Amino acid sequence: MTAMTFIARDVADAATAASQCAILPLFQNTKLASAALKIDKATSGSITAALALGDFSGKRGESLILPGTDAAKRVLLIGCGDAKTFDREGARKFSQTVYQALLGKQASEAMLHLAGLGLKENAAKWMLAYLARYLIAASYRYTETISKPKAAIKLTRLVINTKGAIKPRLASNALSEGKAIGRGIAEAANLGNLPGNICTPSYLAGHARKLARSSGKLSVSIVDEKQMRALGMGALLSVSTGSEQPAKLIVMNYKGGKAAAKPQVLVGKGITFDSGGISLKPGAKMDEMKFDMGGAASVFGTMRAITELALPLNVVGIVAAAENMPDGSATKPGDVVTSMSGKTIEVLNTDAEGRLVLCDALTYAARFKPAAVIDIATLTGACVVALGSHATGLFANEDALADQLLAAGTDSHDRAWRMPLWDDYQAQIKSNFADLANIGGAGGGSITAACFLSCFASDYRWAHLDIAGSGWNSAPKGATGRPVALLTRYLLDRAGL
Ligand code: BES
Ligand code: MN
Ligand code: ZN
Repeated sequence: MTAMTFIARDVADAATAASQCAILPLFQNTKLASAALKIDKATSGSITAALALGDFSGKRGESLILPGTDAAKRVLLIGCGDAKTFDREGARKFSQTVYQALLGKQASEAMLHLAGLGLKENAAKWMLAYLARYLIAASYRYTETISKPKAAIKLTRLVINTKGAIKPRLASNALSEGKAIGRGIAEAANLGNLPGNICTPSYLAGHARKLARSSGKLSVSIVDEKQMRALGMGALLSVSTGSEQPAKLIVMNYKGGKAAAKPQVLVGKGITFDSGGISLKPGAKMDEMKFDMGGAASVFGTMRAITELALPLNVVGIVAAAENMPDGSATKPGDVVTSMSGKTIEVLNTDAEGRLVLCDALTYAARFKPAAVIDIATLTGACVVALGSHATGLFANEDALADQLLAAGTDSHDRAWRMPLWDDYQAQIKSNFADLANIGGAGGGSITAACFLSCFASDYRWAHLDIAGSGWNSAPKGATGRPVALLTRYLLDRAGL
């Protein structure tokens, strides 16, 4: 993963500070801020000249690199638009513009001058957190099975000149938060991008063990198929039975809070490949079903982020990992299985496998006496139809929890949209031969899937995030690392940070 160092400090004189690249945010139609003024002088008016020539006006998204001085080798002007309307979208655009401008350049270090921009302290904090997150997430490249990966920016060290803008300690905290989230996003994206023949349930179990070695606060246990049978996890086992790859229930226990504090529990769908099973999927785009462990990947990414931040909170991450394949020993449509909860399920379609692995994981989650349980799953194609790729589908059995997650999504720009969980839908998953059917028939496919899960989550506060649309892109293909930013923000909020 990209190693990037962020440093926040007050720099006495922008013109004489040594740097490979001085980054100067500029608003439209305003006087140059103090750092820009000094550098303009030191470069015999190169900034004023560029403005006068009309090559750069400070429009949002504009950038221009000028040769600098002996101290600051390059000067990178970033247009931030109208100062009065500079908001979070402006800060996001700023981060993207910095990244784009540095791509293909040789600078491995840069210094960003914030003085004179007139940002409120909270706005500056948000901007720095987002910048760190974006630079790291955007420079992630998939390398595992590629001989010559595409180049990313060369930047490995960014100094923030906080003088006159924000206290260095606050800036430093914001940068650490953004960095951890960026690394979490990259981690989730990378796991998602790995092919199904590498990223198996056993691979994910090994990955969890590796993650645990990086932190004294994180311990890992793996429930194997034999233990699953003893626990009565007939629903989870019915998915892996047609596969050569044994299922794994991966439990990561992070103890950052007080011993008695109830944990937040994250449960991820970890189908490392979803062929549909006997209800086989059509061939087109079936390769994308390697992304069907995106929920699990986001649990790993979030666990990494919170361990890096040493979050003062107890968090349990559970991954229900299995491969869904057709075989002589595979589950067949019409088969009835018994879940760990004791409820029986008629498997009317073996392609509705996510809810089968998740229902047993949700029952298992109750043993942690959770403050709340949030599951994350690439659960339904219907969610892609409903919301497309921008919003994650959110379902919850409690309004306050739903609101907390919606707020975390808005704040981190990793947004979710709430969908109904009304009782009326429950009738669609009735079965003549079992307590529940695993599909709900025509209409409201993502809602009936959530209704199915809710039957196993009635003992605690619970929310379900359907990331079928937001979890990966099809053109160009790649996992997005969502919703690591939302989840980490939600946990930071719970820790009061
Ligand atoms: N992993 C899929 C959901 C999915 C499909 C996500 C396409 C993203 C794109 C899930 O296991 C599945 O196959 N769901 C079925 C459910 C149906 C059989 C009730 C679906 O959505 O078609
Ligand atoms: Mn499926
Ligand atoms: Zn699936």
